[in-house]
Amino acid sequence: MMSDGGYKKTDDICEDVCGQEVMGGAPLNMSRLRCIMRGLDLKVYLLLFIIVPTVVLGIYVHGQKITYFLRPLWEKPPKPFHEIPHYYHENVSMENLCRLHGWAIRESPRRVFDAVLFNNEVDILTIRWKELEPYVTQFVLLEVNSTFTGIPKPLYFANHREHFKFVEQRLTYGTIGGRFKKGENPFVEEAYQRVVLDKLLGIAGIMDDDLLIMSDVDEIPSGHTINLLRWCADTPPVLHLRLKNYLYSFEFPVDNKSWRASVHQYKAGKTRYAHYRQTDDILSDAGWHCSFCFRHISEFIFKMKAYSHYDRVRFKYYLDPKRIQDVICKGANLFDMLPEEYTFKDIIGKLGPIPHSFSAVHLPAHLLNNAEKYKYLLPGNCNRESG
Ligand SMILES: *[C@@H]1O[C@H](CO)[C@@H](O)[C@H](O)[C@H]1NC(C)=O
Ligand SMILES: *[C@@H]1O[C@H](CO)[C@@H](O)[C@H](O)[C@H]1NC(C)=O
Ligand SMILES: *[C@@H]1O[C@H](CO)[C@@H](O)[C@H](O)[C@H]1NC(C)=O
Repeated sequence: MMSDGGYKKTDDICEDVCGQEVMGGAPLNMSRLRCIMRGLDLKVYLLLFIIVPTVVLGIYVHGQKITYFLRPLWEKPPKPFHEIPHYYHENVSMENLCRLHGWAIRESPRRVFDAVLFNNEVDILTIRWKELEPYVTQFVLLEVNSTFTGIPKPLYFANHREHFKFVEQRLTYGTIGGRFKKGENPFVEEAYQRVVLDKLLGIAGIMDDDLLIMSDVDEIPSGHTINLLRWCADTPPVLHLRLKNYLYSFEFPVDNKSWRASVHQYKAGKTRYAHYRQTDDILSDAGWHCSFCFRHISEFIFKMKAYSHYDRVRFKYYLDPKRIQDVICKGANLFDMLPEEYTFKDIIGKLGPIPHSFSAVHLPAHLLNNAEKYKYLLPGNCNRESG
C-alpha cells in the first residue's frame, strides 16, 4: 500500500511536469527525463539495456561476417575466365596432347624460369621444386628480411640452403633488406619486392620467348602442365593456371577456383612480374594451391601476423596455439570469417568447416614419395608440431 502510494505520487509529479511542458514548451530538464523514463515499461528497459548492447556487441564481433554475407549485393563477380580444357594422361604422347589442345608440337621445348618471393615455406618450396625440377631451366628466388607488413624476419632460405642442393646449379638467389615503412599499405612493399624480382630474372638470364612462371610458392603447377606448355607451339602468350585450392593440407580441398598463378612467354621490357589478373585465358586443372599448409603451429601464428591482411586478426585469442590446432583439425576458418564469394548460393554452399577428403590421388609425387616426412599434409594427420 505504501509503495503504491509512492508510485502514484511520482506519476502525479510526472503528469504535472509533462503537462507544463506541453503547455509552455519549457526546455528539457531532469524531472522531465525522469518522467519519460517512468512512462516506459519493463520491456522497453530490456530493449534498451540488454538487446541494444547485445546487438551492438554482435555487430562489433560479427560485423565483418555481415558485410561478407551481404557482399553479393554490392559487389559483382569479376568477368569470367575463358577456360581452356586440359587433357593429360601419362600414356598419351606429347604430340597427341598438344593436338588435343589445338596446338602444334615444337621441335624443342622452351626454356622455363620459375620465380618466387620466399617467405618461410621450406617444405612447400621443396615439394614445388621437386615437382618442377625436370622441366625448369632456372629457379629464381628472392628473400627479404621483412614481411609485407614490415615485420623483421630471418632469411629462412639462406638458413636452409643445404636442403636445396638439388637445384644449386640452376638457382639464382637474391636477398634485399626490407624498407620497414611503418603504417604503409602492405601491397606497396609487395609491389616493390616484385620489381626486384624482375631485376633478378634479368640476372638469371631470361630471354624473349622463354616461359616464366609467376606464382606464390604455395601455388604449385603440376609438372606435366609445365611440360605441356614448354613443348607445344601457339599456346597463349599469357595464360593463367586454374589450381585446386586446399587449406592446411591436402585433407581439406576448398574448391577448384585458384587462378592467380600464370605462365608468360617472356618479352623483355614488357613482361612484369605480377600476381593479379593479366588475361582472360586459363588452363583448367593445372596444379595445387595449398594455403596455410605449415608443419608448426608457430608458422601459422607468424603467417597470420605477417599476412597482407593483418586486419583480419581482430582478436588476440585468434593467435592462441590451442585454438589454431582445433581450427585446423576441424577444417574451420582461422580468422572466423565467412567464405569470400560473390553469390549467396556460393556463400551458403561453403558455410561451416571444409569436409575432410580421404583422397591422396593426383598429388605431387615428391609428397607421396616422402609421405612419412610430410604426413601432416596428407589426409588423417591434422595434428601439428608445436614450436
Ligand atoms: C601405357 O602404354 C603401355 C604400352 O603402350 C601399356 O603397356 C600400358 O598398359 C599403358 N599404361 C596405362 C596406365 O594405360
Ligand atoms: C635487413 O637487411 C638489410 C640489408 O642487408 C640490413 O641493412 C638490415 O639491417 C636488415 N634488417 C634486419 C631487421 O635484419
Ligand atoms: C573440383 O572439380 C572436380 C571435377 O573437376 C570435382 O570432382 C571436385 O569435387 C571439385 N572439388 C571441389 C572441392 O569443389
